[in-house]
Amino acid sequence: MIGIAKPEIGEEEISAVNAVLKSGILAQGEKVAELEKNFAEYCGTKHAVAVNSGTAAIHAALFAAGVGQGDEVITVPFSFIATINPILMAGATPVLIDVETDSYNMDVSKLEAAITPKTKAIIPVHLYGQPADMEEVRRIASVHNLIVIEDACQAIAAEYKGGKAGSLGDFGCFSLYATKNIMSGEGGVVTTNDDTFAAVMRRFRQHGMSAPYVYEELGYNYRMTDLQAAIAVEQLKKVDAFTDRRRHNAAYLNEELVDIPGITLPVVKDDRTHVYHQYTLRLNDDVSLERDAVVESLRDKGVGAGVYYPRALHTYPHIAKLGFSEGDYPVAENSASRVFSLPIHPALSQNDLRTIVNAVKEMLNVG
Ligand SMILES: Cc1ncc(COP(=O)(O)O)c(C=O)c1O
Repeated sequence: MIGIAKPEIGEEEISAVNAVLKSGILAQGEKVAELEKNFAEYCGTKHAVAVNSGTAAIHAALFAAGVGQGDEVITVPFSFIATINPILMAGATPVLIDVETDSYNMDVSKLEAAITPKTKAIIPVHLYGQPADMEEVRRIASVHNLIVIEDACQAIAAEYKGGKAGSLGDFGCFSLYATKNIMSGEGGVVTTNDDTFAAVMRRFRQHGMSAPYVYEELGYNYRMTDLQAAIAVEQLKKVDAFTDRRRHNAAYLNEELVDIPGITLPVVKDDRTHVYHQYTLRLNDDVSLERDAVVESLRDKGVGAGVYYPRALHTYPHIAKLGFSEGDYPVAENSASRVFSLPIHPALSQNDLRTIVNAVKEMLNVG
């Protein structure tokens, strides 16, 4: 089976981890500091704060932004649940707006109408590795004095008008989970240009501690280990090469699949670059095939297709009970029933790519 994801682990990662193990300093040591310095430099921000997941990254950003009970945070219903759960963890209320049919990102034409006096922040998601319309998000945020937190968990290295994901809002939140474009098994990073935000997040990740056993406020244990940081430092050196491979694979699939009826290829919008965390196709509305049957059929042909995401987030019980119903976000709901993703990771061979194309053609009875 050609897997949907495959972590690229080289000798560099292995010896970096060995070196940390031999050093005996496993937590909050030099490697975490090195990762933070390199990550900030890569994204073009003043600070990067390492934490232990993308979820923790979003939680830390919300905390530093001062988001709490009684506040509303605007985001989208078509994402991984970790976009919304931190809003609930912060005690705030998620307000959802639908996504665009072509990019699956926040439909910014709906943003202004969702703002109330309680709105404190906006979390656009750069889904599948393509930035949301950040210029419009920032314009509206500045009119209403709102904080912008990029959910860039899938979008390391993606660009919008020449700026890197992570440098496009007040905070950029990244995941280094095992399947991400660069990874450390588990891990997360928050980027920001704001000194105070960075200082608050550095405290937040260790129980609000500003100096040994001086607790300024509530915090969590969101620390990254030096073992994870050692892997991530090596991965970050390779991010541009990994991204090139993903783009090369996407270009091949685009070329081979462009004329096939019944599917819509990924759409890359003007002024941005796509890093293809996922290469996601849409089964057109006029195709009678069930999406889940399509995924099964691809798997039968040795292609590990995936579905990101099978259900819009407002339909899950703990979100729905906040007052959402099926039918509230038609684009998200329809997308959740029509999309499927093909393997696109850097380890694919030309043979794998050919197998993927043939499987899609066979499944749709063409070619
Ligand atoms: C869009 C999005 N947001 C948030 C997260 C949360 O990241 P993590 O799994 O590292 O907590 C992920 C990744 O899993 C993600 O894809």
